[in-house]
Amino acid sequence: MSNTDPVRVGVLFSETGVTSTIGISQLRGTLLAIEEINEGGGIGGRELVPVCYDPQSTPSVYAALAEHLITKDDVKVIFGCYMSSSRKAVIPIVERWNRLLFYPTLYEGFEYSNNVIYTGAAPNQNSIQLAEFMTANFGPRVYLIGSDYIYPYESNRIMGELVLQRQGGQKLGERYVALDADSKDFKAIMDDVRRAAPDFIFSTVVGDSTAALYRAYADAGFDPYKMPIASLTTSEAEVSQMEPGVGDGHFTAAPYFQSITTEENIRSLERFYRRFGNDSVPNLCWEAAYFQMHLFANAMAKTGDDSIDTLLPALLGSEYQAPQGRIRIEPSNHHTCLYPRIGRINHDGLFTIIREATRPVYPDPYLVTHSLGDWTISMTTLET
Ligand code: ACM
Repeated sequence: MSNTDPVRVGVLFSETGVTSTIGISQLRGTLLAIEEINEGGGIGGRELVPVCYDPQSTPSVYAALAEHLITKDDVKVIFGCYMSSSRKAVIPIVERWNRLLFYPTLYEGFEYSNNVIYTGAAPNQNSIQLAEFMTANFGPRVYLIGSDYIYPYESNRIMGELVLQRQGGQKLGERYVALDADSKDFKAIMDDVRRAAPDFIFSTVVGDSTAALYRAYADAGFDPYKMPIASLTTSEAEVSQMEPGVGDGHFTAAPYFQSITTEENIRSLERFYRRFGNDSVPNLCWEAAYFQMHLFANAMAKTGDDSIDTLLPALLGSEYQAPQGRIRIEPSNHHTCLYPRIGRINHDGLFTIIREATRPVYPDPYLVTHSLGDWTISMTTLET
């Protein structure tokens, strides 16, 4: 007897609100993978059908929609969330109903849930590399600027501790702004940056206000070749919201940039632009959203069942040839082995890759090992 019922999965990415630019890219990365899976015959002949809602960049709406997906739409697996505040709102729901959440976003680490698969970078796969690179090339004195919620607080704490490993390392300022902050809010901070004179700024600002931060930096007349902004969340999507040239010269650490030249990346970008046109911008969270759907489909093709207890044994330890390279879900902590990279924003609004890992880096969400020197062993320098 064969089951030909469609497989319905929940999809929660924000199409409105302050993180909608990156949310729409995650949604489209998800839909691209679903279309590829269905073109290839679905999951064991069963069509994969997304049930999508817009959580409006609001954690309480994420929680309500996750509950609706589980209790009304009867889905077993949910793909979604960008801000850590939204993930923290959804986790109690998936834990209560014993369902599975795939989360395709870098985050602050220090978390484990048996009901979550984390496919974005943990701090040992982006913050350590960025701290090492910035302190070696610009100096150890940092000024921290973030949006007002959990990821920036925690990520800044980690960066603050990492720079202290360097001689002369210092945290010269730490400021938080509302999620809808504008250039005026950042102007006052830029005045304080001038006074403090750090070696670099670490930005944990997310979403629409990112463009306002870089605009305020440019208006203040600072030089990215002397005192740049370094970030984990300023991706191609946020750069596309800046006026031309405003982001040039600043740095981001991420496992994925559009400029990666693997065959898998070139092919998936071609398919993406053919399908969705040029008005959405692939980035690290788009890529994770894309490959995690393929990981799910491959695991379910083996088990024929999407309930968490059947799916997890097939999923944990599984690998996929992703646009960034061959990735793997680490069974002991549900995070993903990824390839750290450092990119610098160029005049096309893309990233020139300056350093990249030659081997995947094991996820260590609790930063058990956090020595700044570790990562260079597996990295190549492409350009300085
Ligand atoms: C984030 O909030 N994890 C970017």
